[in-house]
Amino acid sequence: MLPNLDYRRVADPRAAALAALELLLQQAAAAIAQRGRFVLALSGGSTPQLLYQLLATAEQDWNNWILVYGDERCLPYGNPERTSTLVEQCWLNVANFPRTNHYLPALEPGADIAALAYAETIASLLPIDVALLGMGEDGHTASLFPGHSHSQQSVVPVHNSPKPPADRISLSYATLNAAAVVCFLVTGQGKQATLQRWLAGAEFPVANIHGKQATVLITDVAL
Ligand code: 6PG
Repeated sequence: MLPNLDYRRVADPRAAALAALELLLQQAAAAIAQRGRFVLALSGGSTPQLLYQLLATAEQDWNNWILVYGDERCLPYGNPERTSTLVEQCWLNVANFPRTNHYLPALEPGADIAALAYAETIASLLPIDVALLGMGEDGHTASLFPGHSHSQQSVVPVHNSPKPPADRISLSYATLNAAAVVCFLVTGQGKQATLQRWLAGAEFPVANIHGKQATVLITDVAL
């Protein structure tokens, strides 16, 4: 097991979503008490859907929550493959989340311009309190993929993503590593081999992301 990784094994995807919900609500209460706001970076993919649905039923003053995207795919707003579509349909539209607190990247200009613009948009919101992240079977996280190199921008353009669509934007390693807490939410036996290689020291993108205060792995996979 990696040092400083808080590995939380749960029974199944629903238990994983409930454990992530508990962590987010705890971190939100602390951040709001200390600073009056809670900045959460959202994850894409299919894994967080259940968590977003659970958040829609949470009793929270959403005016204290600020949402940014850990990464987003360069697709038109409303496209079913956009992470923002998943987040809005499962959570924000259901919970009547204040739109002013939902920092949507403008992706129409393309990844290069969108990354620079989003970096400027979210600059005053950094550092993130919790970065919610998934993991792909190649060890990628957000849209940081093996073999890709990036500039020192806080938000980076991604081209030739091995996971469609090819163009994306992503918070950089530095921006994610400045987060107080990183929470990896990874479920399904299909991720077991990659998780085991990660914990054995493989140089995956996920292995280069650590929260300032805590790095949590919530998974239903036995390791
Ligand atoms: C995306 C995500 C990506 C995702 C992982 C896991 O755009 O898809 O940013 O990093 O979290 O690929 O995806 P699943 O949850 O679908 O396995």
